[in-house]
Order: sequence, then C-alpha cells, then structure tokens
Amino acid sequence: MSKKIAIPAGDFYQNNSNLKWVVLVISVLISVGSIYYTNVLVEQLKARERQQIQLFAKALEYTMSDLSNENILFVTDEIIFKNNSIPTIWITRDGEYQYRNIKIDSSLSESRKKRILEQQLKSMKASYEPIQMTYRDEQGNEDEYGYVYYKNSFLLTQLISYPYIQLSVIAIFGFIAYLAFNYSKAAEQNRVWVGLAKETAHQLGTPLSSLMAWIEVLREDNEMREKGVVEELEKDIYKLRIVTERFSSIGSVPVLKRENVIALVNTVVNYLRPRVSSKIKMEVHVMSEEIFANVHAPLFEWVLENLCKNAVDAMGSTGTIGIKVLRGNDGKVFIDVSDTGKGIPRSKVGMVFRPGFTTKKRGWGLGLTLAKRIIETYHKGKIFVKSSEENQGTTFRIVLDVV
Ligand SMILES: Nc1ncnc2c1ncn2[C@@H]1O[C@H](COP(=O)(O)OP(=O)(O)OP(=O)(O)O)[C@@H](O)[C@H]1O
Ligand SMILES: [Mg+2]
Repeated sequence: MSKKIAIPAGDFYQNNSNLKWVVLVISVLISVGSIYYTNVLVEQLKARERQQIQLFAKALEYTMSDLSNENILFVTDEIIFKNNSIPTIWITRDGEYQYRNIKIDSSLSESRKKRILEQQLKSMKASYEPIQMTYRDEQGNEDEYGYVYYKNSFLLTQLISYPYIQLSVIAIFGFIAYLAFNYSKAAEQNRVWVGLAKETAHQLGTPLSSLMAWIEVLREDNEMREKGVVEELEKDIYKLRIVTERFSSIGSVPVLKRENVIALVNTVVNYLRPRVSSKIKMEVHVMSEEIFANVHAPLFEWVLENLCKNAVDAMGSTGTIGIKVLRGNDGKVFIDVSDTGKGIPRSKVGMVFRPGFTTKKRGWGLGLTLAKRIIETYHKGKIFVKSSEENQGTTFRIVLDVV
C-alpha cells in the first residue's frame, strides 16, 4: 500500500489569508500615512500663503495711504510684484478692482473678462476670509479702504490632490498586477492538470491492453471460467477503462453529447449502491423520466461519484444520500446531491472547491476541484454548495442547460 504524504493544506490557506490581511493593513497604513503627511504640508503651506497675502495687503495699504514716500513705495512694489503664484483680487471701497495671477485672455470682450473675474471672486470668497485694507491719512485717522480676496496657489491645489491621484494610480496598477498574476497562475495550473491527466491515461493504456489480452488466455482455461475469475476480472477491467477514459477526457477537450441526465444519475447510483455500507440509503427523486442536457457522460458520472463519496465520508456509518433532478423554469436542470452528514462550517464553505483543501486524513482535496472544473469549464454549468447546516447535512447543486 502506498503511503500518502500529509500536505498541511489547512495551514496553507490559513497563512495565505493571513498574508492577505497583512498586505491590506500595510497598504491602508501607507495610504493613511501619506495622506496625513501631505495634509501637514498643506496646512503649513496654507499658513504661509495667508502670511504672504497679509503682507501683500499691507503693502497695498501703504501704496494707497498718503503717508507713502518714494522709499517705502519701492519696498512695497517689491512685495506686490513678488506675489506671482497666489490668485488675488483686491477691491476698493468704491468698487474698483484689480487682480494678479489670474489668467485672462486679453482678446476676450470686457463683459466676458468681468464674468471670469466674478467667478474667480466667488470661489475666493468660498475659500478664505478676505483681508481688510485700512486707509490712513496724515492725521492718523483710519478708514476702511477695501478687501483683498485670494485662493490657493496652483502648487497648493496640486499638493492637496496629489496623494489621492498617487494612491489611485498605485491601486489601479496593483489591481492589474493582481489580475495578471491570477491569470498566469490559472494558466499554469491548467497546464499541470491537463499534462498530468493525459500522462496518467497514457500510462494506464499499456497495461490495460495487455490485461485484455490475458483475459482471452484465461477464458480458454475451463477451471478459471468455472470459478468466475474471468467475469470478476472483466468487471475490474471495465472500471479501469472508465478511469482511463476519464483521465484522457479531462486532458483534452471533451465532446459533449445530448444525454438523459436522469439515466446517468441512475447509472451512478446503481454502481455505488452495492459498494457503500448497507446502512447508507441512496435515494433518487425525479419529476419526470427524461431531462436532456449536453454532457460528457464519463466526466459527468465522475462528478456525481465524487459528490456521493464526499457525502458518504461526511455521514460516517449511517445516513441518507438523496439525489434530486429538477427542471427549472428558465431552461435549466438542477441536480441536487444532499446528505445527512456533519455539514460544512460556514467559514469553510468558500474553500471547499480550492485545490488541496481537505479536512480528511486521507484526502487529497481534489475531488471538488475536479468537479468544478468538469462542470464549469467543460459543461459551462455551475456547481456550488446550495446549503449546509452543521450536523444536519449538506446539499451540493449542479446547474446545466436543458437541450
Ligand atoms: N458533503 C459534504 N459534507 C461535509 N463536508 C464536505 C462535503 N463535501 C466536501 N466537504 C468538505 O470539503 C473538503 C474538500 O472536498 P474534496 O472532495 O475536494 O476533497 P476530499 O474529499 O477531502 O479529498 P479527495 O481529493 O479524496 O476527494 C472535504 O475535505 C470536506 O471537508
Ligand atoms: Mg472528495
């Protein structure tokens, strides 16, 4: 007897999902950190821009006030012309206005220019409190002169949106990389499946044909024939031929044929019934005698066998396996395989179709992976856990198109 190597499949999936969480948490931390840091920079830059505008307003005040002398004017001009990044509009008490750092095409009509400025002013009013300018005469009397409005410089606006743009680009890139990785992983798995299946079928073929020749030799021997050896051997060879056919079908593109699903279900049940414990009942419930679908019989039977074997494993010594074949209203046929076994814990339902997932000592965790591949890739159908209740039982559903 061959000894199986224990593959800690459970650990693998556990680690894999832990890793996913670690990556997710780190990504969130990096995103939050980078947004927080940019916000700190943005606040500092905002404060600096406000100081700059306050100085700008002061400079304007000096230029307007009667106190101004040539020297101060020179300095204030320096300050005023230094502001070449923050969009600014200043309006005097009489409603006269001037602006800086707002691009307006000089060829535009006066009314169009005015409209643009009004729009700008509106967005400035929404951004920040304006800075008041005070007029001071020679006697030192103060009077309200006007207001300076401004909004964020182009640099600041860019800095505010920068981390979001950067993170979105990284997220999109990450998503594409993830898809590409998954795709190449699936393609690789596909090659392994197909190659292994073809090789198995090929290797089984040679001893099988020689066995068939030996049977002919045994048939000549009266003693052997009388003991029923030939008959038993023929049954085993028949089963071996089915296995070979299954492997060779899964290794190539199987040709689907219109088959009566109910007849196939009965074939499998009749084959399995004498082979499972007599305390396990197998029931088939059908509404009609015939429901046709395009299937590859050997592969479809393999799926049913896998589901029934899992059902037997889940039940232990006693229980009932029920197979229902139903016809849906939308041109579908449902094949429900139910058992009265231990059920699948809710947290594991999403994992049962993954290759290598098993809770059995001697399981490979391939039965359902194979079933999914056969139903979904070759038959364009669906297979899923319809319901499962712990210690009550499980129902798997296969959905195919009626033809
Ligand atoms: N009817 C069921 N009731 C309860 N658990 C089930 C049932 N069918 C599948 N499972 C769970 O899903 C797991 C995966 O099933 P799958 O048939 O893919 O592999 P396996 O039966 O463990 O091994 P093998 O490769 O020999 O089939 C099982 O180990 C079991 O935990
Ligand atoms: Mg199984």
